[in-house]
Amino acid sequence: MTAPRPGRVVIGEPELRARVTALGAEIARGYAAEPPVLVGVLQGAFLFMADLVRAMPIDLVTDFVRLESYGGGTTSSGRVRLAEDLATPLAGRDVLVVEDIVDTGRTVAALRRLLEARRPRSLRVCALCDKVGRREVDVGVDWVGFTIPNVFVVGYGFDHAGLYRNLPHVVTLEGV
Ligand code: IMP
Repeated sequence: MTAPRPGRVVIGEPELRARVTALGAEIARGYAAEPPVLVGVLQGAFLFMADLVRAMPIDLVTDFVRLESYGGGTTSSGRVRLAEDLATPLAGRDVLVVEDIVDTGRTVAALRRLLEARRPRSLRVCALCDKVGRREVDVGVDWVGFTIPNVFVVGYGFDHAGLYRNLPHVVTLEGV
């Protein structure tokens, strides 16, 4: 058996650059008054977050969470806990969750519940990719970069067993 390897390009570098830049400008227009708190979900969203904030010409605050799933096998169980929490209080703030991908929707639904409990003024979600066909939980995703088919992808933050996050584009994983 051969080890899984990165395969064909699903989203190329120029497409990523153009879309993330446009998305940043669009999202920024939704936060004209107070500086929002952007909550990046580690590790998958770290590259997306870095590019997104540089495309947002407004005052903003960045912070990160790291989630740990429990109670599930290979598929998302939707039961998550914060393995690393925010340093920023969210009460009364406008919060934007920056996620890598919404698949079943369970992770975003669980994170929403955790963060809503902190009484932010608003809580919105932005995801680089959306696998709409896989949705099991109807979570509100306010901004989506790309809708992609039901294929496992790596690169631009997405990993397989910790590898390939550093690839500059989003590609399929072959041989899984
Ligand atoms: P959900 O709870 O099913 O929506 O799962 C979302 C999480 O699954 C994402 O935050 C990713 O960590 C992971 N994930 C889903 N699809 C992919 C993929 O194609 N490549 C890498 N990670 C993925």
